[in-house]
Amino acid sequence: MKRPVYNFGAGPAMLPVPVMKQVQEEFLDFNHLGASVIEISHRGKDFEALLAETDVLMRELAELPENYEILYIHGGAQMLFSAVPLNLLGLQPSKKGLYVETGNFAQIARKEAEKFGQIEVVLSSEAGGFKEIPTLTPELVDQSASYVHITSNNTLYGTRYHRFPKTGSVPLVADMTSEILSRKVDYSQFGMIYAGAQKNLGPSGIAVAFVRKDLIGHAPKNCPKLLDFKVYADNHSMANTINTFAIYVMNLVLKWLKAEGGVGVLEQRNEAKAKRLYQALDQSDFYSSVAHKDHRSSMNVCFNLPNETLLDRFVKEALAEGLYALKGHRAVGGARASIYNAMPMEGIEALAQFMAEFERKNRQSTF
Ligand SMILES: Cc1ncc(COP(=O)(O)O)c(C=O)c1O
Repeated sequence: MKRPVYNFGAGPAMLPVPVMKQVQEEFLDFNHLGASVIEISHRGKDFEALLAETDVLMRELAELPENYEILYIHGGAQMLFSAVPLNLLGLQPSKKGLYVETGNFAQIARKEAEKFGQIEVVLSSEAGGFKEIPTLTPELVDQSASYVHITSNNTLYGTRYHRFPKTGSVPLVADMTSEILSRKVDYSQFGMIYAGAQKNLGPSGIAVAFVRKDLIGHAPKNCPKLLDFKVYADNHSMANTINTFAIYVMNLVLKWLKAEGGVGVLEQRNEAKAKRLYQALDQSDFYSSVAHKDHRSSMNVCFNLPNETLLDRFVKEALAEGLYALKGHRAVGGARASIYNAMPMEGIEALAQFMAEFERKNRQSTF
């Protein structure tokens, strides 16, 4: 077996080591049933108890108000790119959705929504290379619209909303895939949020949505069953066979998060981790940080090296040191360290020290 690495991949991403060990230990025998968690019925009492416990943990850790449903939706975050317009455009006669474009996923979400109604891009930071989060003021929000969609953390460009926009009476919808439960959030500001699980929660292929109850039940009659929020809400997300393994892993991740002290503690840890890396970048004239200083993400730290040759060498030599998956997304280039909840400070230190040493060895070739 290869020795363990610090995994800086953007997702599917590293999960807490104790969770992975527990999954391994009890994979063949869940709850002393003599069967694996992936072999038991989702309608049986053991799985139903697991799902109910997952809901309780999720609500407690997120401090989610009672008037929001927790839905577990098949297909990952992009399934919500279709489900959001299908379920929410009908909230207003205008059937209009407003989108803020702060990265590629925001654009994919907008393009998907265009299949279902009238979609407007209210703001975009594309002209500046998505390095900033444009300011959405209440005056920019057409109050006849059905919803406003934002991407709270931009995985490819390493930017995030430090404060969320006020949208008047128009429900605010956020894709929180790359930062769910990494910082404390007042969810009452949102009509709904959603997140693919594969970064901070568990395996890919499933998404979690927190949806305000009054926004459920507005999908058109021809909405596919497994895209309709009401079908999920009425059936405890089990109108068909739920992804039992993903729920199980998520349950363990949430227990780990609670044992670590909860979202507030993780938020402080995440801020400290990000600060260490941004300081290393800011002190250097060899590396350059991609995101504008005021809009930096604590989850995805994107940076450039002086040239492509050095970037390739950096990624290869880092890997040899056990620092895995530091190459930036193909659409953006450069390097990216994704440092979700499960990344320990030791991983950050190891990366920061590697960066300093790499710079020392290679700066002669560039300056
Ligand atoms: C912000 C954001 N939204 C959406 C997605 C797409 O998620 P999925 O692959 O689960 O559909 C990703 C994937 O990394 C993401 O980072």
